[in-house]
Amino acid sequence: MKISPTLAARLLTQGEVVGVPTETVYGLAASIAFPSALKKIFKLKGRPQDNPLIVHVADLKQLKGLVTHIPEALAKLKIFFPGPLTVVMPANKKRVPSVVRAGLDSVAVRMPDHQTFLKLLRKTGPLAAPSANLSGKPSPTAASHVEDDLGTDFPVLDGGRCRRGVESTVIRLKKTHWELLRHGALAADVIQKALGDLPQKRNLTKRTISPGQKYRHYAPSARMVLCGSLRELHKNISLKKFDAVLGFSDTKRGLPLISLGVRGDFKANLKQLYAALRVIDTKKYQNVIIDMDFASSGLGATLAERLMKASSRS
Ligand code: TXA
Ligand code: MG
Repeated sequence: MKISPTLAARLLTQGEVVGVPTETVYGLAASIAFPSALKKIFKLKGRPQDNPLIVHVADLKQLKGLVTHIPEALAKLKIFFPGPLTVVMPANKKRVPSVVRAGLDSVAVRMPDHQTFLKLLRKTGPLAAPSANLSGKPSPTAASHVEDDLGTDFPVLDGGRCRRGVESTVIRLKKTHWELLRHGALAADVIQKALGDLPQKRNLTKRTISPGQKYRHYAPSARMVLCGSLRELHKNISLKKFDAVLGFSDTKRGLPLISLGVRGDFKANLKQLYAALRVIDTKKYQNVIIDMDFASSGLGATLAERLMKASSRS
């Protein structure tokens, strides 16, 4: 159910959960002042309790209240605020309830680049919000996707189609060097230029630092097979071994094509990705082959990572 900004602000300040637009994907928001509403987010999504939420702020003043101290290097990152960058910092535990942090000592914070959402945040104060999909499903990039997942009675503030279409990039400072915890809408090499330090993608070790990374994500119900070799891809398309191919405008014809647009135009590809993954479900395809013939640098790394997650079974 699409609701007005005034009603969205009222519901959130009364401790309700509301779907909200951001430039990346739609979020499922609750005020950090209401632990009961925060718990409801986990329930609605079917989200594991050990996967912490990102807290969204309107400005640096709101951010300061959430952390014990601000890393000096944050000054270099201010050019990305507002924007699709999430920074994990030491949490002010008095302000940020444990349920948001999943018991960790840190909190992930971002300032979204979306006027409707920023205006809402100025009225409500910091809002915790994961992506508004059911756990394991592709993130919503339109208000109608939120209604598809949570029902048409669920309140959503409609902010149009998401400009980025893929989640924020998540980083954190570990002692003296930065770490990339999740690829996202801001390319790692762009962050590296600003910091003069390359945020490395953490390997999944015994102790998971960004808990969300260990879960299956962004996945349609179909079996999805990645194919990096064009020869193999063409063979499979000719033999019609799959129901459809997820690829680009120039992908070889022969099977129904779900296109992410022009190959190599990663911004456009990412913007269309989640809607394309939802099409696989609505068309009830069972076996889909994915054209992976693209460079995995810049935002290509984000596209590759999301497709790998979408095809993984665990
Ligand atoms: O673009 C986005 O980031 C969207 C919009 C709604 O802002 N939100 C989003 O939230 O993608 P979610 O919950 O789907 O993903 C949050 C990621 C998860 O991988 C989670 O584990 C990680 O951020 N995270 C949250 N708090 C953390 C913390 N304190 N330490 C490490 N990782 C954290
Ligand atoms: Mg998510």
